Amino acid sequence: MSENSQLMDKIVSLCKRRGFVLPGSEIYGGLANSWDYGPIGIELRNNIKRTWWKMFVHQRDDIVGLESAIIMNAKVWHASGHLKHFTDPLVDCKKCKNRFREDQLTDKKKCLTCGGALTPARQFNMMLKTHLGPVEDEASEAYLRPETAQGMFVDFKTIANLTRKKLPFGIAQIGKAFRNEITPGNFIFRTREFEQMEIEYFVEDKNWEEQFEKWLALMKEWLKLLGVKEKEVYFHEIEEKERAHYSKRTVDIEYHYPFGTKELYGLAYRGDYDLQNHAKASKQDLSYNGVTPHVIEPTWGVDRSFLVTILSAYTEEQAKTAKEGETDTRVVLKLPVHLAPFKIAVLPLSKKEELSIPAKKIAADLRKYWITEYDETQSIGKRYRRQDEIGTPYCVTMDFESLKDNAVTVRDRDTMKQERIKITELTTFFKKKLES
Ligand code: GAP
Repeated sequence: MSENSQLMDKIVSLCKRRGFVLPGSEIYGGLANSWDYGPIGIELRNNIKRTWWKMFVHQRDDIVGLESAIIMNAKVWHASGHLKHFTDPLVDCKKCKNRFREDQLTDKKKCLTCGGALTPARQFNMMLKTHLGPVEDEASEAYLRPETAQGMFVDFKTIANLTRKKLPFGIAQIGKAFRNEITPGNFIFRTREFEQMEIEYFVEDKNWEEQFEKWLALMKEWLKLLGVKEKEVYFHEIEEKERAHYSKRTVDIEYHYPFGTKELYGLAYRGDYDLQNHAKASKQDLSYNGVTPHVIEPTWGVDRSFLVTILSAYTEEQAKTAKEGETDTRVVLKLPVHLAPFKIAVLPLSKKEELSIPAKKIAADLRKYWITEYDETQSIGKRYRRQDEIGTPYCVTMDFESLKDNAVTVRDRDTMKQERIKITELTTFFKKKLES
């Protein structure tokens, strides 16, 4: 097994073992490529979304938020071109019946699994269809959105009018999207149900190049907030022949995953393609102050953000054990502090009430400010290991000495350095550490 596939196996196993990401529908034998975010995972996921919203909505004056409906009028998908063009070329192996996306095969004629001959490619639409109401006819057809973007285009004029923003300005949305992918896989990298964070940034035509550069720089800044290092990503300028016909520039931000260098995010200049199409199809005037704005679209996947955050944070180190002269491998998620699911864990050395009662009180006091876990099960070594694996920046240990000196030991996740802090000074100590 290669080192890279071993790393992916370790990440998947850590995610399950510690409650980051669990297999979906597991008691029924699972559902292929569906995943549930567990108690620790949902904290990290929410922290990623919150950080994004803060950076792009709360800390700016020119971007407003939206949560549009997942199911939109089917006419939206006619006008956007999704019903016609949102397809992947599907091929089947005549021998082993495996299915592939033709554009992902290096040899277009041979099956990847058994080398058998392939059927000619047919275009497969990736929209997930459903019916609204009890009658399953053409009139009741509806689709789960394959991107959040169309909500911003459809509501553009209303939002522009009611917020009275001047160009350039943007609309941001975080929400679920659905695609009937032919080849889902690689854990949460490609699934049929996923979440996006998208911005449609409306600009004057003449300013698009300058705005595009600004967005590229902002997307680089964002990666730092996830703890992703420059060397782990590749900015791929998409050539003209591979770009959508209406786009004059597209950059895919790719990440060096253990399973290959593949897309993480995208930045596209979409011209006025979407607003013009919706104006035509809806017969509404979608111009604003006399012009139809052009659009720069930065787009981020939540699940891929989650995956690269864990991959970038995952570290194995040799650490001393309790036994003299012995070391073993310590797995630690060196997550940026603002993303860590728990900021502090309070761990009494013993379950005895003389320690557990005051330790619980410390945890309750800290919980007023930071997400704090209390854990009294297993040996202290195992509890440290658990907190390291979920990326908790600080552990607070209460021992019998604490009852005499009214102090506790605070252990730093990354350096493993321990310092003795007075219980009355703990909040001030953590305010400095966690809020700087
Ligand atoms: N509105 C533009 C748009 O949807 P996209 O490149 O098709 O562009 C945007 O998707 C982002 O959504 C991707 O960069 C990726 O992060 C995420 N994404 C797309 N398909 C996905 C899938 N099947 N599973 C997980 N994430 C996906």
